[in-house]
Amino acid sequence: MTDHGERRDAQRPLRSRLLGVVLRPDARPLGWGIVVAIGFLAAETAVVLVLARVAPENAFGAIFLLGVLVVSAGWHVGLAVAMSIASTLVYLSFHLDGVAAALFVFLPVALLANVLAGQARLRAAESERRRREADALARQQAALRRVATLVARGAEPSEVYPVAVTELARGLGVEHVTLTKYETDDTCVVLAAVDATDRLKLVVGERLSLDGDSVTARVHRTGTPARVDDYDGVAGSIATRLRDLGLRSGVGAPVVVDGKTRCALIVGSAASDPMPPQAEEQICDFADLIGTAIRNAENREELKASRSRIVAAADQARRGIERDLHDGAQQRIVSLGLGLRTLEASMPEGDAALRHQVENLINGMADLYTELQELSRGIHPAILSKGGLAPALKTLARRSVVPVGLELSVAGRLPEPIEVAAYYVVAESLVNVAKHAEASEVVVRATLDDAALTLVIADDGVGGAATGGGSGLIGLKDRVAAVSGELAVASRTGVGTTVTARIPVPAAELVAAE
Ligand SMILES: Nc1ncnc2c1ncn2[C@@H]1O[C@H](COP(=O)(O)OP(=O)(O)OP(=O)(O)O)[C@@H](O)[C@H]1O
Ligand SMILES: [Mg+2]
Repeated sequence: MTDHGERRDAQRPLRSRLLGVVLRPDARPLGWGIVVAIGFLAAETAVVLVLARVAPENAFGAIFLLGVLVVSAGWHVGLAVAMSIASTLVYLSFHLDGVAAALFVFLPVALLANVLAGQARLRAAESERRRREADALARQQAALRRVATLVARGAEPSEVYPVAVTELARGLGVEHVTLTKYETDDTCVVLAAVDATDRLKLVVGERLSLDGDSVTARVHRTGTPARVDDYDGVAGSIATRLRDLGLRSGVGAPVVVDGKTRCALIVGSAASDPMPPQAEEQICDFADLIGTAIRNAENREELKASRSRIVAAADQARRGIERDLHDGAQQRIVSLGLGLRTLEASMPEGDAALRHQVENLINGMADLYTELQELSRGIHPAILSKGGLAPALKTLARRSVVPVGLELSVAGRLPEPIEVAAYYVVAESLVNVAKHAEASEVVVRATLDDAALTLVIADDGVGGAATGGGSGLIGLKDRVAAVSGELAVASRTGVGTTVTARIPVPAAELVAAE
């Protein structure tokens, strides 16, 4: 029994434990029975010898009945009959005339006691079996719940695998559990393995061939649970490997994701008995949880990838519009302005009104140019593509209405999606400060450490900011999440607002940035 089982046993009430000892589900060993029977006969004889001196006319048959009763209740019917015959013989040595009477009393009493004790034993065995089943079920449910909790928390599959095999081994009380992932039609790789003993086990990362027969090969072939009750004489690499590990039988279930058998969860045993028939169903419960963990992780990855694609496509479009404005409309305005200047220069000196009109047109053109420049900067900051994050943030700080204390420790270039996300976090936060905060100053801090770019935009304004009030902060959250980062807004009324974004930067990119 496992530690777990022993603890449970100790927790049972004393009464039920005592009953278990007295009404053992199985009969006691014969050897002890013979010793007890001889002991009783000797003690009874001694007592009768003493009593016979006091009252020689009495038979004292009841005293011999005691041994018959005890032995009949505690041991098999053979010993019960032997004890009643032995008691009869000893009784006769005192009262030669009572053969029939003694046998007619001792034998039926022995048989009756034996039958009654047998029935009590059966009942005890049945309730003991039920208790063990309930214990096993509770153990299994607890193990399953621990894995389910982990999966529900959104743990990565690599975190779930070792826990699932350990809990399955504990829940089912089995020695060996392995989780393998099918790579091709011919091979699989070990994702997690556990063995209750010090025996060698399969190693994580070990590649196994699916040739010949094995539970793993059968699960792969059929996509349903499978078992091998005896690996003796079974051909194939896995069967040979398991025999080397001392395992004799195995039961396994498929881990199915999107209708495809991705992995196999296999329980192995070194015992000669085949595993119980309900093993398949129990393993399936754990395999389903592993499948859910894999599916959840893939969903998360797909969601992240699609969000990144949407943000990247939007940025690309904005960059295109900015370039079109810059190369098209802005250049056109510049050349029209130059044309007007030429016209102005060639105009006769005397026509002041016309000259004034042309002057107005030229100024209008210049204003239009500035407006367009502002517009295209808002659509996509060209300085970001050209100079990187540091100069772009300096420009934002310079243009801010509220005075900005800028603390930059970001040198070099970072991946473009990260630079763009960081730029928009600062840009939108500064616009919010100007629009809503009534702040006297705002601190913008950008730091690049070992693993991430951290941005902090903190104002000393009215506070009370919340995501969802407009599209700005929510949009930032999505943008930052698209580059695997996190955005937090802390905004106590009367104290000010702090927007913090942390964006992980891949190690390779960090080296490039330095
Ligand atoms: N720095 C700040 N100080 C005080 N309140 C703020 C600050 N930033 C945002 N808020 C509050 O939080 C709300 C949500 O901000 P968010 O940027 O999402 O929307 P918005 O600025 O109102 O609209 P949009 O950004 O779509 O033009 C704002 O409406 C405002 O009330
Ligand atoms: Mg806003």
